[in-house]
Amino acid sequence: MVDGAHAPAQLADPVGGLQSDWWVGNFHKFPCAPRGTALLVIPPEGGQDGQDLWPLIDSWGFADPFPERFDEQGTQDLCGPIAAPESLREIERLWGWDVVRRYMSDLADYAERRVSEAASEVGGEDCSSPVRIPSPAMRLVKLPHGNRTPQELDALCPVFRDRILNELHAEVAVTQFDGELYLRLTAHAYVTADAIDRFAEQSIPTIVGWLRG
Ligand SMILES: Cc1ncc(COP(=O)(O)O)c(C=O)c1O
Repeated sequence: MVDGAHAPAQLADPVGGLQSDWWVGNFHKFPCAPRGTALLVIPPEGGQDGQDLWPLIDSWGFADPFPERFDEQGTQDLCGPIAAPESLREIERLWGWDVVRRYMSDLADYAERRVSEAASEVGGEDCSSPVRIPSPAMRLVKLPHGNRTPQELDALCPVFRDRILNELHAEVAVTQFDGELYLRLTAHAYVTADAIDRFAEQSIPTIVGWLRG
């Protein structure tokens, strides 16, 4: 199974060339659809027909074949799935997805440069990431963390994500990989270069200060 959570809308052809039995991707991420909306794709010639796939909780549709058996869950709120195609259409109507994808990718490059320069300057070491992620709208920037162990970093990630959100009013993922601590920056149509500048100039010194404290 391919977990393509971030692929829809970030990639023009998110499912292209699929060779797995299953593919899933989220619509509540880059497509801006309501939470809880996702797409399951079964390649026509993968050998799977979905008949061994069941809802976690059975309901009225239990006797129906796939995919109809997913459609009649007594208390399921279907507003999200019904609205999901509208969110794709609305962004296409407002700006066009190709324009948005170019904007996101350019802004992600800018964010990586600005934030890693700011972190390197305040932290006194090179904070550019040696790890590249094949994701047009997302970038990693390293943070200086002293000699913390991977276990200590794992514990720190959710705490820092919450502090960055609540105290600095920015939504940034914080992640640990191979003993290094990273900020994962994401660009979208609603993110501006001004916001990136503010984050680099005002928030990065605070975050590096937390890591020293
Ligand atoms: C690769 C990957 N898979 C799965 C998920 C979780 O998605 P969901 O929002 O459906 O729980 C995420 C969330 O960021 C993700 O990055």
